[in-house]
Amino acid sequence: MLEGEPAIFEKFAAEIAAFQHQDAKTTKDGKPLRGFHAKIHTGVMAEFEILPDLPAHARYGAFAESRMFPAVVRFSNGESTIHPDTNHEPRGIAIKLFGVPGRKLLQGREDAVTQDFLATSHSVTSAVRNVNQFMKFVRAHRYSPKIMALRLFFTMNTFELLRIRKILNRDVLQSDVSSMAMEEYFGTAPIRFGPYAVKFSIKAVGETAKTIDRLVRTKDFLREELAERLRKEDLVMDFKIQFYADDTSTPIEDTSVLWQTEPLTVARLRIPRVDLDDELSRKLSRKVDALSFSPWHAVEDHRPLGNIMRARRVAYEMSSRLRNVRPEPTGVPLPD
Ligand code: HEM
Repeated sequence: MLEGEPAIFEKFAAEIAAFQHQDAKTTKDGKPLRGFHAKIHTGVMAEFEILPDLPAHARYGAFAESRMFPAVVRFSNGESTIHPDTNHEPRGIAIKLFGVPGRKLLQGREDAVTQDFLATSHSVTSAVRNVNQFMKFVRAHRYSPKIMALRLFFTMNTFELLRIRKILNRDVLQSDVSSMAMEEYFGTAPIRFGPYAVKFSIKAVGETAKTIDRLVRTKDFLREELAERLRKEDLVMDFKIQFYADDTSTPIEDTSVLWQTEPLTVARLRIPRVDLDDELSRKLSRKVDALSFSPWHAVEDHRPLGNIMRARRVAYEMSSRLRNVRPEPTGVPLPD
């Protein structure tokens, strides 16, 4: 932990909250949206099955025994304001498991029964090394591209700036997402796995139907594609972990290094077939949208690790307080 970190992270969270207030002026009801990932595609019920016969080193925390946890999933776009889905931006998946035993990390919510996993595709965090660099991009992104470039030029080391720009150009600015189901999502920053450190990722299983690319990409085509898919079949995704090996190839503090250790599938996320357009589904989606997802809704065995994660602890708390989120739910179905 760096000296003065708590104060720096409070300042970052307050900056994000200030942006939320600014952006709220452009929303229909004037209410603040999430600090990031404001646009929901859908919120759905799911099952998270811990696979049987996991090796001993993969049996910790929620994965200690083979069982099924009921869950809810929120699919989102990454920006803090709402754009048509054709916009190039990160995409997110947030999973909340229910009935996970053990004391939870957040003060005042030690008895919660939830464990969250958040992951993104085409993310900014996998280009930056740390939360300082992340915030420089977040601040600069509030301006027009020209001013953004100037601000970054004056606030960042040129080599680092060029390195990050190259990755962002490739991974975010030119990303072509045709289906939320076909994306590969990465936790990007590590978490504990009992005595170990791991990174996790989520991807649809091999036999998942490929996207039928749409002739017209409407502003909400990612939701429409999911709806079409889920009307016909379950969506099944593998949840994989990669173990820490050493500080050079799998660093904890530098999120720009892609861990190359062998992935191990430890769980399967199943979103059962459903009609996203019926009234019950729409109501559930609204309830899921009103929740707070955070990597810090976690047991000690899955404690988030590294500076990005420590900063997220404060930022998610502040952002969700601003949105007046409901108390952590105690189970499903979600209360009205
Ligand atoms: C490891 C990299 C990261 C990943 C994978 C990630 C993923 C996500 C996802 C999936 C969501 C949407 C959650 C939902 O559906 O409710 C989200 C929201 C959010 N993220 Fe991140 N994020 C990352 C890094 C960061 C960082 C570095 C910050 C700021 C320091 C941050 C701040 C936020 C905030 C404020 C929200 C909205 C929280 C709320 O109002 O409930 N994230 N993030």
